[in-house]
Amino acid sequence: MSSVEDAIVEVNYDELIPNNVDLANDARLKKALESWHPKYIDWWNEAGPEDTQELEVYLRTAVGVDPKGWAKFGHVKMPEYRWGILLAPKEEGRTIPFGKHKGEPAWQEVPGEYRAMLRRLIVVQGDTEPASVEQQRYLSKTAPSLYDMRNLFQVNVEEGRHLWAMVYLLVKYFGRDGREEAEAMLERRSANEDKPRILGAFNEETPDWLSFFMFTYFTDRDGKMQLESLAQSGFDPLSRSCRFMLTEEAHHMFVGETGVGRVIQRTCDAMNEAGITDANDIEAVRKLGVIDLPTLQKKVNFHASVTYDLFGAEVSTNAAAAFTAGIKGRFNENKLDDDHVLTDAVYSVDRIVDGKLVVEEEPALNAINGRLLDDYIKDATGGVGRWNKIIQKSGIDFELKLPHKGFNRKIGEFSENSVTPTGEVISESEWSSNEYEWLCSEADGDYINSLMVACREKGQYAGWIAEPRVGINNQSSDFEYVKIN
Ligand SMILES: [Fe+2]
Ligand SMILES: [Fe+2]
Repeated sequence: MSSVEDAIVEVNYDELIPNNVDLANDARLKKALESWHPKYIDWWNEAGPEDTQELEVYLRTAVGVDPKGWAKFGHVKMPEYRWGILLAPKEEGRTIPFGKHKGEPAWQEVPGEYRAMLRRLIVVQGDTEPASVEQQRYLSKTAPSLYDMRNLFQVNVEEGRHLWAMVYLLVKYFGRDGREEAEAMLERRSANEDKPRILGAFNEETPDWLSFFMFTYFTDRDGKMQLESLAQSGFDPLSRSCRFMLTEEAHHMFVGETGVGRVIQRTCDAMNEAGITDANDIEAVRKLGVIDLPTLQKKVNFHASVTYDLFGAEVSTNAAAAFTAGIKGRFNENKLDDDHVLTDAVYSVDRIVDGKLVVEEEPALNAINGRLLDDYIKDATGGVGRWNKIIQKSGIDFELKLPHKGFNRKIGEFSENSVTPTGEVISESEWSSNEYEWLCSEADGDYINSLMVACREKGQYAGWIAEPRVGINNQSSDFEYVKIN
């Protein structure tokens, strides 16, 4: 690598905004971002984790982009977290990997004809990042341990950094309208009636910690799929931004998977200690102060189905256009064995015709979203299998399942029909009379809520969740992950 490239990869950590995009030599960009910075901090204090400004949190901070050592750990107050702009290293000679420009050099500037499309994609992705922080604003009050509180904050600060990543692209490459979009990112608010966040799932509440774990498992995984598709983009700065974001995203899904896993572990242990073998005896299990497995299944049903909707309509000409333009690819595009242009290809789409589930072929280009949803469902299956292993090992007869693609959908092929979690098409009245067999009722929510009590002593864990087997960065489970002075 030449010394010039070295200089670009190296992170300048002395500036107000740590970066590896040579901000020091781009006066206009630097000025724009430095004027956005205090507004971002205002947003954080107003809409980010509540009453946490003085807490010292054992956080991971990205300080480089070398896959072997990109982060450091230490106690920091969150408003002082170093949110930076970090792009994965540039690949010399990279070409556009798909669509009608396949094989042409990747764009280093925004191609004029795709400007509006690109801006929209960056805005939609960027909007999800602060939205989740807002949804999780009140959770620290009821954290089941300092370890969990720290993980929540880690996810929050990194979602904040993801917003920075998208704002950098808007401000650097989209001139005045980019700057306006950057401002608007801080004005919309999750679940706000007048200025809601753009996508539905990001206006839902995250009312309790079980919801938080489900959200990070299911909804952050949608984030992963979107970032993977954008990482393939022919617009190189977007590709490099998303590639680095993915290194952080993995931890978010880890928090979700292990969080739900620990809830399951605790429930199974409590059942075994009490000699309860019937997982469906909800009343008996709840007397133990743990979350019964059927309720966990309802939470899986809800969070999975709300996330399915985030992929948009399975058949979409917008998605086809973004693919053909070389702006947004498929999951694992570079590993797929086809022509990456897809003008003659077909893809199977599930839908309901005359009240029956059928599979029909669509032009593959139109079915890009449907394919990404299918890839997501495959990706999400792994963790569910590992949750079931915990149940099996405990000797309890119960199996968690992902709901059918058509269950509880508001968008796409299934939005006009009612479908059960196992994929039966039913009437609206059957749906109404069974809805709370499949989704949490208010009473279920109240029960979960009743368990949410804060544990703020080192090594103390709430009764409904098991301790983690390993701590963060090789620390123990009773490490002081958050210093509350
Ligand atoms: Fe994110
Ligand atoms: Fe995330």
